[in-house]
Amino acid sequence: MARISERIGAIAESATLKVDAKAKAMKAAGRPVIGFAAGEPDFPTPAHVVEAAAEAVRDPRNHRYSAVAGLPELREAIASKTLRDSGLDVGPGRVLVTNGGKQGVFQAFATLLDPGDEVIVPTPYWTTYPEAIRLAGGVPVEVLAGADQGYLVTVEQLEAARTPRTKVLLFVSPSNPTGAVHSPEQVRAIGEWADAHGLWVVADEIYQNLTYDGVEAVSIVAAVPALAERTLLVNGVAKTYAMTGWRVGWIVGPADAIAAAANMQSHATGNVANVSQRAAIAALTGPQDEVERMRRAFDRRRRAIVAGLNGIPGFATPVPQGAFYVYPDVSALLGRSWHGTHVASTLELADLLLEKAEVAPVPGEAFGPSGFLRFSYALGDEQLAEGVDRLTRFFA
Ligand SMILES: Cc1ncc(COP(=O)(O)O)c(C=O)c1O
Repeated sequence: MARISERIGAIAESATLKVDAKAKAMKAAGRPVIGFAAGEPDFPTPAHVVEAAAEAVRDPRNHRYSAVAGLPELREAIASKTLRDSGLDVGPGRVLVTNGGKQGVFQAFATLLDPGDEVIVPTPYWTTYPEAIRLAGGVPVEVLAGADQGYLVTVEQLEAARTPRTKVLLFVSPSNPTGAVHSPEQVRAIGEWADAHGLWVVADEIYQNLTYDGVEAVSIVAAVPALAERTLLVNGVAKTYAMTGWRVGWIVGPADAIAAAANMQSHATGNVANVSQRAAIAALTGPQDEVERMRRAFDRRRRAIVAGLNGIPGFATPVPQGAFYVYPDVSALLGRSWHGTHVASTLELADLLLEKAEVAPVPGEAFGPSGFLRFSYALGDEQLAEGVDRLTRFFA
């Protein structure tokens, strides 16, 4: 009998966290590493949110278990946000508050998948999706959309991947790791295709408020309202409100799926920490000017890093229109020697960059095939400029 179950033993360590940990360890040892790996805003949580939490800590009502699906006021606030940003009119009964979007992703797949059910996963994908799908007994089916198509998957590609076992389409726009945002026409075409084939959709909308160039991230349920009966929207406060550490996310979907997911949560974690839920209420219902200030800062950094990376021969960098990542195709730099080391993959390249240039991007292998690097631009402007300088010198 194996010490560790096959199911859990097969889970890979999160590659993004691994690079981040190595970069942090080097920093702690005194090396001036510039970290482009972290998937979180570098800003503190807005002050009025922190204040609401401080008040909540002192209120004994928040010291007790609360409803598994979330505090009623938070579920109301999420329903309002969903109507505003995703165009879907739901009552609070169709909202489940989770410990971060991550738990939302996990529970969405656990709720929908039986062993062998296939999920179409547009690739490059956020590193957690295939693991969450496999843990739920499902089979991730990767569909690669490369830099040449702006990382935007087409209906033809999705149709080519569809089989009688396909149950779910994963849809993520803006995307982590690419920052790509589907146009309203593309969202409608993909939504209509999913609807025509009776598929479920898991739509991760956690970056929906972080878009640039006047681009709007259109929700797949707004584009194709009929899909709402078979769609789980995943979202959270982490990225928009600089609240990664507070662990508040949610799923919105049809009543039966939300009730089933809540049943599961009642045995796994119970309610999300009440203080964090109170903070999330303040974030969603309070002033939004800090959100806009952070978005503008990301936009400025986005322009700076894209301009910088485009100046390096061998980097092919589609301009991201959402999230806070840029995802150059660097396959032209592989199969060569850099500073005396032969580099065959982006895993090796990222390691060499960390050692020799003290710059930490995440290798493409964390998100699908080799040949790409992910840079998060959620770091200070000066650090960003210095990091780009180091890369330019390294590849000169
Ligand atoms: C695409 C995507 N979805 C969901 C999450 C989960 O965020 P959290 O669990 O912090 O709410 C992340 C975090 O990196 C993400 O990039």
